[in-house]
Amino acid sequence: MKKITLAFLAFCLIIVNSTKADEGMWLPILLKNNFAEMQRLGLKLTTEQLYDINNASMKDAIVWFNGGCTSEIVSDKGLLLTNHHCGYSAIAAHSKPSDNILDNGFWAKSLADEKENPNMFASILVRMEDVSYRVNKALAGVDAKELEAKKTELFKTIQKEATEKTTYEASVKSFFKDNAWYLFVFEKFTDIRLVATPPQSIGKFGGDTDNWMWPRHTGDFSMFRIYANKDNNPAPYSKDNVPYHPKKFLNISTKSLQEGDFTMVYGFPGRTNRYETSFGIQTAVDKTNPATVDLRDIRLREWKEEMDKSDSVRLLLSSRYAQIANYWKYYIGQTEQLKRLKVFEEKQNSEKKFNEWAKNKPEYASVLSTIENAYVDYNKYALHRTYVNECIMASSIGGYALSFQDLAKAMKAEKQDTAEINKALRKLKGDVNAFYKSFNVIADQKILASLTEMFYNNIPKDQHPAYMAELMKKNNAKTTKETFEKFAANVFKKSFFVHKEDVVKFLSKPDLKQLQNDPAYLFVKSFYDNYTTNIKPHTDAFNLINNAEGGKYIKGLMEMNADKKFYPDANSTLRLTYGQVQSYSPKDAINYKYYTTLTGVMEKEDAKNPEFNVPSKLKELYQKKDFGPYANKDNDITVAFITNNDITGGNSGSPVINGNGELIGLAFDGNWEAMSGDIYYDSKYKRTICVDIHYVLFMIDKFGGASNLINEMNIIKN
Ligand code: ARG
Repeated sequence: MKKITLAFLAFCLIIVNSTKADEGMWLPILLKNNFAEMQRLGLKLTTEQLYDINNASMKDAIVWFNGGCTSEIVSDKGLLLTNHHCGYSAIAAHSKPSDNILDNGFWAKSLADEKENPNMFASILVRMEDVSYRVNKALAGVDAKELEAKKTELFKTIQKEATEKTTYEASVKSFFKDNAWYLFVFEKFTDIRLVATPPQSIGKFGGDTDNWMWPRHTGDFSMFRIYANKDNNPAPYSKDNVPYHPKKFLNISTKSLQEGDFTMVYGFPGRTNRYETSFGIQTAVDKTNPATVDLRDIRLREWKEEMDKSDSVRLLLSSRYAQIANYWKYYIGQTEQLKRLKVFEEKQNSEKKFNEWAKNKPEYASVLSTIENAYVDYNKYALHRTYVNECIMASSIGGYALSFQDLAKAMKAEKQDTAEINKALRKLKGDVNAFYKSFNVIADQKILASLTEMFYNNIPKDQHPAYMAELMKKNNAKTTKETFEKFAANVFKKSFFVHKEDVVKFLSKPDLKQLQNDPAYLFVKSFYDNYTTNIKPHTDAFNLINNAEGGKYIKGLMEMNADKKFYPDANSTLRLTYGQVQSYSPKDAINYKYYTTLTGVMEKEDAKNPEFNVPSKLKELYQKKDFGPYANKDNDITVAFITNNDITGGNSGSPVINGNGELIGLAFDGNWEAMSGDIYYDSKYKRTICVDIHYVLFMIDKFGGASNLINEMNIIKN
């Protein structure tokens, strides 16, 4: 193939013929290329109705929720629907034993009841734009050493131009490992109030046991509202703010679903790695995934022990616990499915084909062997990197103490920079309350002991910081276990980070010596500095090669398969995926239906297991069959359903939309048999788990009694 420019290449890749319906997280400005197929599957709208920058379109109702989830606007007063697990930390933060909305639920009956959430934000995409030509041109020929600085400067300029004379925010993001670049302009709202949540026995029904699995019976939804100032513009919280009047909101359909019905999911998928090489899969399966799971086991075990002792501790720790548990199970599942689906072998096969194709092409011939070589060095340090994140920083006191290093740096500077000191102090003062809320002295001391012991046992000795030997000597005991227990006990006895009052006092009159001599700070600094000096240069060098060669690999794959449509990996940008309601067979002789019901909730009920409690009010409604207009044809309530849409984390809370553009559910999870999906899409198994809108409406109306919210939405009766 003739040498062509990257931007042009990216462009032609998207115009050529069709691919499988289900796979792919498509950029909404390029949907024209998928349109014929979407129509064939049942879409009744035009692509302009999905995405348009000149007129209101569906994208104006899709809201990036707190930078990590998706939500959708469902009324002309800025009412938002998202998952319960996306609202979880806000819901937990409003809960205390005397007013426990996490366990009991909450239904605002008027605007005045709605609860303010400091630090929460919601962003609506104003527009996106392909800036590949400009970026590639500006970066062409730039020396590798100067590339990052040049990029930062260029992006700043582009972002500034895009937001001039507005309150918008903008960012430039890389696609296909730097083969293409897009600009995203957002309107960011910061007054977001909690409107409604079911009790967690509904919103998190099934707990960690059912998490990442089908069949599922979770009412995973919660409601918030965007507030704006009187001019309908973003503004910080104020009692004078009013509900935001959106350009567009979603209507709701109560037509019951059939297998094969068209569905699309519109949202902000976080991260996939679909172009990962076999080498990367080997490192994940053999090293980093199992280490992450083992290290998280410790935190979960110790926190759980304390949470089970007291309700107030449980409420304080539950959000952190849920977060860690979610991806603990994710890594177990990903490893299991990568093996079961033989993804390593699959990737090896395609790499073999690539190498054959690339043999006489100088640009591509050595791409894969270069990546393979880079992994040889990286594999010596990959575990250490995982340990920094999941061990050193994950010991609460360590991670927290390290957040003081910017302050230390500013105070240490020869010419003390008051502005920098004050900036660091402001940040630290802002973080104090949040940290001590979920800091548990008993659990966290045990966690520090166990985690550092694991570091000692599992990280090659020649990579340990010098501090490790001192630690061992100072705390010398009969067994390694006791040594690390002694170490942790000493840290917790002497560190001022253990007591909130001491930290508050310190922040009002910071003393560099005190900080530098603090045992928690000493500990974390020594591990962290060892990492940045001795390990990070290796992992950074690896990342540079892996990204650059990975980019060539993708470009080569595109040339090699010139008639195939490629979609970029998820990167927290707005995407649309389309497909159908679809059942599946998880293994021989078993078939899973495409939906679950309230009857199934009752079947799973277990009064002795908190993960499977059913609130008595729900049991009553079930027994009386008091389902209002939300019952299905069997006089039951549909709770959840599955589709073959292609989603990942970040899509949580995303609207599931029918061919008429109406809301039929919220995506909230993936299924066990396809946990390798972020790396490899398997159309036989990959499903999206959605909470059915009938269950959501039934909950709001019959369980929560919030007819005010029902009346606010536009529900199209079937
Ligand atoms: N697995 C879901 C996701 O990542 C989150 C489910 C939350 N529930 C739970 N039991 N942790 O989107």
